[in-house]
Amino acid sequence: MKRNILITGGAGFIGSHVVRLFVGKYPDCRIVNLDRLTYAGNLANLRDVENRPNYTFVKGDICDYDAMRSLFAEYDIDGVIHLAAESHVDRSIRDPFTFAWTNVMGTLTLLQAAREHWNGTWEGRRFHHISTDEVYGALPFDGTLFTEQTRYDPHSPYSASKASSDHFVRAFHDTYGFPAVVTNCSNNYGPYQFPEKLIPLFINNIRHEKPLPVYGRGENIRDWLYVEDHARAIDTIFHRGRDGETYNIGGFNEWRNIDLIRVIIRTVDRLLGRPEGASEKLITYVTDRAGHDLRYAIDSRKLKEELGWEPSLQFEEGIEKTVRWYLANQEWMDDITSGEYERYYQEMYTGR
Ligand code: NAD
Ligand code: TYD
Repeated sequence: MKRNILITGGAGFIGSHVVRLFVGKYPDCRIVNLDRLTYAGNLANLRDVENRPNYTFVKGDICDYDAMRSLFAEYDIDGVIHLAAESHVDRSIRDPFTFAWTNVMGTLTLLQAAREHWNGTWEGRRFHHISTDEVYGALPFDGTLFTEQTRYDPHSPYSASKASSDHFVRAFHDTYGFPAVVTNCSNNYGPYQFPEKLIPLFINNIRHEKPLPVYGRGENIRDWLYVEDHARAIDTIFHRGRDGETYNIGGFNEWRNIDLIRVIIRTVDRLLGRPEGASEKLITYVTDRAGHDLRYAIDSRKLKEELGWEPSLQFEEGIEKTVRWYLANQEWMDDITSGEYERYYQEMYTGR
């Protein structure tokens, strides 16, 4: 059992769910959340756990080697769940340097700090690297799935940076015997997701009767997983997965963007008491994302067969919960969508 667990990026979307799960489930472990609080990091995501005795927040940058070395020493970290990253494909197209810096150099910095602190004693230690299915590239519309054996073929600066970081983690395992595990997950949805991503962005725009920018013809396919199911998978693999292994995590839940968007529209309209389909008129087809991957779909049978994990939530239930959460937490949304982010968003769409 790891005692002092470092979760990086814990103030972000997925990280906040992992922190919440671990703080509640493991009262005898110290959970250290290290986050730089970039535009995507928000301590409001963790209000309900911030005063728990086994929780510590540290503001810091994973690229800062000296700070990371001190952090490992100060808390005697024996387990790492590494989620801190730049995570949005559209931003990576505009600003690839930041992605290489944070995702590649930041991961390497953490690996080195962990290796130095653990100093060859790997027993009881673990570095769990959180990655994405986007490293595998794009699938055709033919029913095939990404498995753990699929060759890496990243297309966006985001997925290229994540692929590179995955390679560094595996290189540490293969070179030093470093105790690492990598997981590649499909698209997550649920509460606390930054509203630059499709689902929260569209829920918010429908509420405010703003245009819904559908890239290309809306035919791209993503495989959606409720974020708490991802957090449970991380818990399972962090504690019971095998060193040096990769586990794919997915929902077996593929949706064409335009079909998903129509489900969101129907759900928001119903919950706001609007006539069915009232917000369909907001759908606005815009120039496609450069290099837009056609289809992602994960085969997560290895995780089910080896460790017994499977998604717990049906998609209809997950979307209903998600829409209700965003509508009930408008203040959380307004705090984010005012100011700097609103300016970025306007520039994105007027500048494309
Ligand atoms: P997010 O953008 O919501 O959160 C990222 C967090 O990392 C933020 O809190 C941010 O402040 C922090 N951060 C960024 N740079 C940092 C730095 N230099 N030092 C310390 N903290 C820093 O991202 P997310 O959607 O929660 O994704 C978390 C992880 O999961 C990422 O590694 C991402 O690649 C991966 N992932 C995401 C998805 C998805 O659908 N969102 C799917 C699969 C994998
Ligand atoms: P996104 O949430 O950005 O996740 P990812 O690019 O990592 O899959 O986008 C999900 C899908 O929705 C993707 O195919 C791009 C598309 N999309 C739009 O059509 N319009 C939008 O405004 C956004 C943000 C995404």
